[in-house]
Amino acid sequence: MSSSFYLRKTTTTDLPILFEHQLDPEACAMAAFPSRDKEAFYSHWTKIMANESNILMTILIEGRVAGSIVSWEQAGEQEVGYWLGKEFWGRGIATEALNQFLKVVKTRPLIAHVAKHNIGSKRVLEKCGFKLAGDDKYLNIGNEEVKEFVFSLDGN
Ligand SMILES: CC(C)(COP(=O)(O)OP(=O)(O)OC[C@H]1O[C@@H](n2cnc3c(N)ncnc32)[C@H](O)[C@@H]1OP(=O)(O)O)[C@@H](O)C(=O)NCCC(=O)NCCS
Repeated sequence: MSSSFYLRKTTTTDLPILFEHQLDPEACAMAAFPSRDKEAFYSHWTKIMANESNILMTILIEGRVAGSIVSWEQAGEQEVGYWLGKEFWGRGIATEALNQFLKVVKTRPLIAHVAKHNIGSKRVLEKCGFKLAGDDKYLNIGNEEVKEFVFSLDGN
């Protein structure tokens, strides 16, 4: 991984690029998560940025916003999720971002939900030490049922 890799707290100036990333149909299909329109996207990010218990970080590559990696509490569990712009895929960036993020977010277990067909994201989790903990299904914001794996990174 190039030395130009950097993680920092997400700022509102990153949002236009993160908005574009989540519009990509291939990314949405991978994550089984439909795009938000501009209003829904900004409303969501305004809400999560106002909650200080959320950890929201931007992945920078050569000074450019490559994606985001976030952690939040849900139903008593600490969750992690990430999303990269397509032009940054396939270079080990998600793996590096998650490894760095795990030094910032120290809560264990740390949980990730991943659509069963999302081979790349499963692989990222496995490479960072997460273990398959079960499976589940849920209705996403597009009201589609998503079958997913639940991965967990335990404390030792
Ligand atoms: C999934 C995603 C984060 C992967 O990011 P990435 O930076 O390309 O991943 P990496 O380069 O670190 O790859 C890690 C491993 O996964 C594999 N991989 C990545 N994408 C893959 C794909 N589409 N199909 C198969 N394997 C894939 C890589 O080959 C690598 O494995 P290896 O080291 O054994 O060769 C990225 O494609 C993305 O943001 N997708 C859209 C949003 C999304 O799905 N987010 C996750 C929601 S749970």
